[in-house]
Amino acid sequence: MNQTERRKAEHVDIAINEDVRASYNFWDDVRLIHNALPEIDIDDIDISTRFLEKKLKAPIIISGMTGGYRGGKKINEVLAKVAENYQIGMGVGSQRSALENKSLEDTYGIIKDFDIPLKIANIGASQIVRWNKKELIRSIDEIIKMIDADALAICLNFLQEIIQPEGEAYAKGCMNSIEIITKEFDIPVIVKETGAGISGDVARRLAKLDISAIDVGGYGGTSFAAIEYYRAKKMNDWLYERLGKTFWDWGIPTPLSLIEVADVVKDKVEIIATGGIRNGLDVAKAIALGADCAGIAYVILKQAVRGLDSAMREMHAIIEELRSAMFLVGAKDVDDLKSAEVELWI
Ligand SMILES: Cc1cc2nc3c(=O)[nH]c(=O)nc-3n(C[C@H](O)[C@H](O)[C@H](O)COP(=O)(O)O)c2cc1C
Repeated sequence: MNQTERRKAEHVDIAINEDVRASYNFWDDVRLIHNALPEIDIDDIDISTRFLEKKLKAPIIISGMTGGYRGGKKINEVLAKVAENYQIGMGVGSQRSALENKSLEDTYGIIKDFDIPLKIANIGASQIVRWNKKELIRSIDEIIKMIDADALAICLNFLQEIIQPEGEAYAKGCMNSIEIITKEFDIPVIVKETGAGISGDVARRLAKLDISAIDVGGYGGTSFAAIEYYRAKKMNDWLYERLGKTFWDWGIPTPLSLIEVADVVKDKVEIIATGGIRNGLDVAKAIALGADCAGIAYVILKQAVRGLDSAMREMHAIIEELRSAMFLVGAKDVDDLKSAEVELWI
């Protein structure tokens, strides 16, 4: 295993074996207002939606997490089976390792074997800024083909890069590189944070580019600073251990980020709310606050590592929780849910 593969394996191991959640989950501060007279039957509820012009049977996306080391293939296979079974979207983790080592392509490409309505390729912003235009176009073309992607996520993970001992905190030219991609490729581009959130101001800047969606990737769920804290601790790297601890709770809470981003880009750019979504009720809250879809990482990863049955059960429960929440607010479909009444305690 080279260094990149080892890092990918450690991220998954640490995420499921240590407590790497933010100290507070802000979805607890969002309450949907109960409708004691919903005037619909549970069987009338339609939870399907259209996102990036694809039909999803539920407004849910399994967030990009893994691939790039041998064990990642099995996890992606389990997640792909779940995405196929429930006809929801799925992303893979950053595909950089497979660009560096072709023998790892199948750890991502395995998802091509499944009928998933929305497959999302993934690359880090700190990588794309370091490529010249020719390398950028060649690499993006490769990662799209690798999974037969329907969309491309560019992940903004600068919090992680600054805390990772081998991190690459290069952000200069990021907007320019994203712009080149949107011009050169006829594929929807999603700009995605990974746990620190997107502010209204950043959304305004992004909306000037021809991107299709923003994943607010807010604070309140998996903390990448926490994951890097544990890695640094294992490596006896006192400085990065300290940085990880200091920035453990850095970021814009997901519901706040979502409200700000929705305020700025609504009707121009579609929105995914990822970060701390634990169940179908959190999915419903996210939609009611302005998201088109909710993204789920940790809770499904944890079950996927246990096996296919556990992962299928988890997604089944999430979907039934979403349906129940829709019934209890009287929302017959996802559009109705978007105008459900919400109480905020943040
Ligand atoms: C083990 C692990 C690896 C991840 N790797 C990536 C990645 O390569 N690219 C990316 O965009 N996000 C990555 N993420 C971030 C997730 O997509 C998601 O934004 C984040 O975990 C917050 O969601 P959660 O609170 O439901 O876990 C990763 C998350 C985990 C837990």
